[in-house]
Amino acid sequence: MCGIVGFVGREEAAPILLDGLARLEYRGYDSAGVAVLDGQKLRVAKAKGRLRVLADMIQNGRAIHGTVGIGHTRWATHGAPSDVNAHPQVSRSGKIAVVHNGIIENYAQLKEFLMARGVDFASETDTEVVAQLIEHFYQGNLLDAVAKVLHRIEGAYSLGIVCADEPDQLIAVRKDSPLILGVGDGFSFLASDVTAIIKHTRDVMYMDDGEIAVLTCDGIQVYDSFLQPVEKTIARVDWEIDAAEKGGYEHFMLKEIMEQPDALRKAIFPRIRDGEVVLEDFGLTDEYIRQIEKIFIVACGSSYHVGMVGKYNLEQMLRIPVDVVLASEFRYMDPIVTEHTLVIVISQSGETLDTMAALRAAKGLGATILSIVNVVGSSIARESDTVLYTWAGPEIAVATTKAYSTQLAVLDLLGLYFARKLGTLPEERYQTVIQSLLLLPSQMEQVLECQANIQYLASQYFNHDSIFFIGRNLDYALGLEGSLKLKEISYIHSEAYASGELKHGTISLIEDGTLVVAVATYNRLFDKAMSNVVEVKSRGADVLALTTEDKAADMEKYANGIITIPETDEMLRPSLGVAPLQLLAYYIALMRGCDIDKPRNLAKSVTVE
Ligand code: AGP
Repeated sequence: MCGIVGFVGREEAAPILLDGLARLEYRGYDSAGVAVLDGQKLRVAKAKGRLRVLADMIQNGRAIHGTVGIGHTRWATHGAPSDVNAHPQVSRSGKIAVVHNGIIENYAQLKEFLMARGVDFASETDTEVVAQLIEHFYQGNLLDAVAKVLHRIEGAYSLGIVCADEPDQLIAVRKDSPLILGVGDGFSFLASDVTAIIKHTRDVMYMDDGEIAVLTCDGIQVYDSFLQPVEKTIARVDWEIDAAEKGGYEHFMLKEIMEQPDALRKAIFPRIRDGEVVLEDFGLTDEYIRQIEKIFIVACGSSYHVGMVGKYNLEQMLRIPVDVVLASEFRYMDPIVTEHTLVIVISQSGETLDTMAALRAAKGLGATILSIVNVVGSSIARESDTVLYTWAGPEIAVATTKAYSTQLAVLDLLGLYFARKLGTLPEERYQTVIQSLLLLPSQMEQVLECQANIQYLASQYFNHDSIFFIGRNLDYALGLEGSLKLKEISYIHSEAYASGELKHGTISLIEDGTLVVAVATYNRLFDKAMSNVVEVKSRGADVLALTTEDKAADMEKYANGIITIPETDEMLRPSLGVAPLQLLAYYIALMRGCDIDKPRNLAKSVTVE
C-alpha cells in the first residue's frame, strides 16, 4: 500500500517529507520519491529501492530547496518497480507533479485520449495519466483543472498535487483511499495516515470521498467535487508518538505482541462497569437489537479469523444465526439480507477495500452496519451505522497481533451486551464471562512469560517446509490465525484444518517428521483432540500441542512439545491462545531471517482489489 506525505510551510520541505515517508515504511513499498517547489522551479527526485537510496540521492533533503512539496512510497500496481515508475509522476512540461495511492481504473482510455493529442508518456503508471490530464485542462487555475480531471477518472485514489506556476499551495484529493490533513500554525500537511505527521501536529481533518483540499501555510480549505466549500471538524489525535516507534524492540511485531495486555485493558475495562457491559455512544437501540434475525460477520484475513471465533461465541450467547463471510466473497454473492440483518464489519485499518466494498453492498441491501475498527476516523468507521473501536493504538507491523486480540474482546463484549438485551444468557454465566474478561489482560501477561519456551520450540521447528494446524470448534478458528501468522511472515507453507476433516483426505499429507500444531484448548472436545494427536502421531508426525494448564499432563503422554495457557472461560481461550501462536510465528520467522515487520508482497492495509 503506497504512502503519501505533503507539506507546505516556512521550513525546508524535503527533510520533513523524508521523515514522514520513513514513518510510512511499514506500509510496504518498492520505490520512493519527492517533488519540491523552489519558487517557480519544481525539483523531483525518485528512486527504486529503499528510502535510504532516495535520502542519499538528495543528501537527506539538503540538496533540494523549497518549502512546498509532496513525497511518496510506492507499492507497485501498474508498472514494475523502477526509477521511472516511481512517484511523483510529472506532466510533460515538468510543471505539475502528482503522488497517488490507489488505482485509476480507466487510465488506459485516458492515456489513449492524451496520446492522440500528442502527449508522450515516460512511465507505465496509471498515475502519470493523472498528471498529464491535469496539465491538459490547466489554464492558470490548478484547482479548476483538478476538479475537471476528477470528473473524468474512475477508481480509488488519494492524490497529492503541486504545480510550479502556483508555488504557494498543494492540493489533496480523496476517493476510496484514505487521506488526512494536518493543521498547524504556519504550516499544513497531507498524509496517508497519522503516523507520518503526528510529530508535527495532532490536529487533523479526515477527508471524505470526493473532497478536494487546498493547503497553504496559512491554512486548509476543503471543497466538494463541485468546488463548493466544505466545513470540516478538526479532530485531536491522542496517542503518543512513541506508540508508532519500536520502543527498544527489534521489531514492531514483537512490541505489539507484548502490548496486548495493555491493549486488552483499553478495550475491555472502559466497557465494564459494576458487572455490566456499557457501550458508550452505541448506535443500536434495544428495540433494533431485539428484532435482529440474522448476523453476518464480514472481514478479511485475521479479521475474518476473529469472525470465525465470534460465530461460535455469538451463536452460543444469542441463539441468532451467524454467518462469517470473506469480504471479497460477500461483495459478489447474492446474500439474503433484510432490515433485520446485522452486518458486523471487522477491520484493523478500517480501509481494506474488499471490506469497504462489502460494507457498501450490505448497506445497499438494507442491512444495519456495525463495525469493529482500530483506526479512529477510518473510512469503514465513518460509513458504518455504529462503530466499536478496539483502542489498541497504532499497529505498525503488517502481521496483526494486538488488533486481533482486542477485536476478539470487543466482539465478546458485544455478545454480552446483546445477550443482556435479549435475555438469552443466564445471569451466572453472564457474570462468569464478565469476570473472565476482566482477568484477561493479567492472564495475557502470564501467557507472554512463555516467550523463552516458544523461542526454544521455534529453534526446533524453523526449518520445516510445511506446518499444519489442527483443531475443533474454537480451536479450529484459532488454528486458522496461527497458520496465517506463520505463513505471512516466515513464508513456510501452512494450513489449518478442522481436526474432524483429517480422515477425509488431508491426513494423506502426514508423513515422518511432519509438524502438526494441535490446538486443544476447548475442554469439551479435548478427548477428540487427543485422538487426533494419536492419529497423526501414528503416521509419523511431530506434534506441538497448545492446551490449558490442567490438560498438560494428559497431552504430554503423546505430544512432542507443549504450550499451555491458564484456565479462562472457554469462549475466551482464543484470546489467550493466540499469543503463543503469534510468538511461535515471530521466532520461526526471526530464525529464518525474514523481514518480519514488512513481509514480502504484503501491505498493512490492502486498499486495492
Ligand atoms: C493479518 O496479519 C494480515 N496483515 C491481513 O490478513 C489482515 O488481517 C487483512 O488484510 C485485513 O486487514 P484489516 O483488518 O485492516 O481489514
